[in-house]
Amino acid sequence: MISQWDEKYSLHVEKIDKQHKELFRLSALVDALDENTTKDDIKKLLNSFFIYMRDHFRDEENYMKSIGYPLLKKHHLLHHEIIEDFTQMVKKNHSLEPLKQQMKIATKKWLIDHILNNDLKIEKWRLQQL
Ligand SMILES: [Fe+2]
Repeated sequence: MISQWDEKYSLHVEKIDKQHKELFRLSALVDALDENTTKDDIKKLLNSFFIYMRDHFRDEENYMKSIGYPLLKKHHLLHHEIIEDFTQMVKKNHSLEPLKQQMKIATKKWLIDHILNNDLKIEKWRLQQL
């Protein structure tokens, strides 16, 4: 079960929070994939996921830059790795069932864990600077 976005995950930046909520929503859609999901559904979901994630990473990195976040470079690398792994996952899994399973593991690991562990560090740091 994918966790739901919660106020305690807020970075107190409207744009970023909105994007995180949408990523949680998309992850829940991935989590709900079942035997009725068609190849076309998956294609559409992977596409919107990829585009949304890429744009979000860019916006989040701009935000980190704007507040002078010291771990920006490291965080950028984590984003880069996620994008790379995502691309590899799509490339490697041609049959439907393994791809569905992979997507479930991947969204949880890359996205939700990333938001909860690494993105929250940005807010923690910001609050320490006040
Ligand atoms: Fe991030």
